[in-house]
Amino acid sequence: MFYKQIKSKVQVFNSIGELEPKDAELIHKALAARLDAHSPYSDFQVGAAVRLANNDIIIGNNQENSSYPAGLCAERVALFYASAVYPEEPVKTLAVSAAPKGQTNLQPVPPCGSCRQVIAEFEHKFKMPIKIYFMGNSGSIMAVNSIECLLPLAFNKSFLR
Ligand code: THU
Repeated sequence: MFYKQIKSKVQVFNSIGELEPKDAELIHKALAARLDAHSPYSDFQVGAAVRLANNDIIIGNNQENSSYPAGLCAERVALFYASAVYPEEPVKTLAVSAAPKGQTNLQPVPPCGSCRQVIAEFEHKFKMPIKIYFMGNSGSIMAVNSIECLLPLAFNKSFLR
């Protein structure tokens, strides 16, 4: 037998000021989108912004429902919206901001497991890594160069045949 070691590299930025202007713009879109979340049940607001290869930016936020499981995370709202409007446009970058309503959250909030699986679907579809930035709503930002860093050994379409 042998062990295979899987390593993840996570970048940490002290503030938005350290990001490239295009990525700073994207995280600002996520911060703004967060404020329009429909989250009356959790009072946890999440905003997401996706940059496509054609440089268009698509936003999303979490959409909750009185029938709780019917709700959807911000990341998936943005990615599904992007895919519905531009089905052939690769996703280059995803930015996420999350915090409880009315509070300051300095701790970066990573995408949930289901969102990681959906992000992996898009990387696999376009055969292109997606850079992912995530933060609270103030302070430091974390980033990974691919969903592989957050979801190693991902299941994908190639296993189905
Ligand atoms: N949520 C997201 O929008 N993205 C995540 O990655 C984690 C959780 C939302 C779902 C729900 O509306 C609220 O945050 C609390 O879980």
